[in-house]
Amino acid sequence: MMDKLEVVAEPYKIKVVEPIRMTTRAEREQLLAKVGYNVGLIRSENVYIDLSTDSGTSALSDNQWAGLMLGDEAYHGSRNFYNLEQAVQDVMGFRYVVPTHQGRGAENILFQTMLQPGDVVPGNTHFDTTRLHIERNGGKPVDLLTEHAYDLAAPYPFKGNLDIEKLEHLISEVGSKRIPLILMTLTNNAIGGHPASLANMRAVKALADRHGIPMFFDAARFAENAYFIQQRESGYGDRSVAEIAREMFILADGCTMSAKKDGLVNIGGFIALKDDALYRRLISLLVVYEGFATYGGLAGRDMECLARGLREVVDDHYLAWRVRQVSYLNELLRDAGVPIVEPPGGHAMYLDTLRFLPDIPRSQFPGVAIIVELYLEAGIRGVELGTLVFGKKDPETGETIYPELELVRLAIPRRVYTDRHMDVVANAVIRVFQRRDEVRGMRIIYEPPVLRHFLARFERA
Ligand code: F0G
Repeated sequence: MMDKLEVVAEPYKIKVVEPIRMTTRAEREQLLAKVGYNVGLIRSENVYIDLSTDSGTSALSDNQWAGLMLGDEAYHGSRNFYNLEQAVQDVMGFRYVVPTHQGRGAENILFQTMLQPGDVVPGNTHFDTTRLHIERNGGKPVDLLTEHAYDLAAPYPFKGNLDIEKLEHLISEVGSKRIPLILMTLTNNAIGGHPASLANMRAVKALADRHGIPMFFDAARFAENAYFIQQRESGYGDRSVAEIAREMFILADGCTMSAKKDGLVNIGGFIALKDDALYRRLISLLVVYEGFATYGGLAGRDMECLARGLREVVDDHYLAWRVRQVSYLNELLRDAGVPIVEPPGGHAMYLDTLRFLPDIPRSQFPGVAIIVELYLEAGIRGVELGTLVFGKKDPETGETIYPELELVRLAIPRRVYTDRHMDVVANAVIRVFQRRDEVRGMRIIYEPPVLRHFLARFERA
């Protein structure tokens, strides 16, 4: 743990600014009522600090902006593709790169190619789009996360670990023939943004090898994961993040990447891999969905920007500041007694909704109530990760099946906000927590049949 008195300032200076506007509380109350209390439907110009996601919201460096001007917009063989390929080889060690428009584009191509109906894909915790792509190809996503992760207040350092015993059990139950790949999501975005340890990755790899199953990473936040290994796993304290990242990727046969996170770009993704035969199969499908092998849904300038972002993201100073900012926000809240998920993750802070608002029944969406109050309090936007997003309806009784956890996520964009913004966020969360007895639950008045959180509308219960 870092010395509390050590000040870790932003490892950059600011060259361009984008004004943000604070609305009045009365304006926010009106804006919310107009969109049925779904903050996702509010225009971003009316949001003061936007913590909806860390995806595609990064600030570019001057080096990346310069790269954008060097876009070679050729259909075939753009030089920016070769720069991207070189960056992936240098940073991740994979021979082949298949560019896609974003992470889910990579998932679409990979799972269509690798899955047969009836297959099972184990992982620590699959992201929503990953689950959907596995299911759409007739497969079954299975989360085998360490039990430590479900104890939200416990300070266990590697809550993103995949439970090896559960994996052994699953393999003996369904047989390795039905498991085309194991997918480890780094870090674990679904619960806390927690890392997996290198020891755990090695154990998964050893088991996968014994059964002849390929191991892939969802590498969306690989650099943050590598930084946690440096800070928390014994034996890595004096290794650079770049070295640790290479060591992680040596274990994997390939990865999917949403470059909108640790690629430090606003749009982009890819699959990277070692195997030549699989690469050929992937690019023949790529042409159908994304584009030719040397652009796959990206402009030349986007690939250049990504090539540069990948090299920047493994910088030790950047990561020390980045992760420190997230833990700074967590510390402010912890010190005020606000129930948060421990330990701090890499890209977001997570509130433990059921301890935050214990008196609001889950049928009244306590997580949504917190989100609404944070917007009212200070124009801050976060997301609910609980009953609204993950709750299911029993097809026979129509009763709600509640998800295991009820969380609120405040994701921090990379290089965008200062610690002063974090102070504003902390104050708002603390104020809402202090008047939690006055907070009312929410009732849903409209919901579409699928992915209801995007368009649902509410009223106060
Ligand atoms: N994998 C992980 C772990 C993710 O967090 C995401 C996106 C994806 C894959 C999909 O990538 O958006 O580029 O298509 N997560 C965003 C979020 C949306 O807010 O957590 P994408």
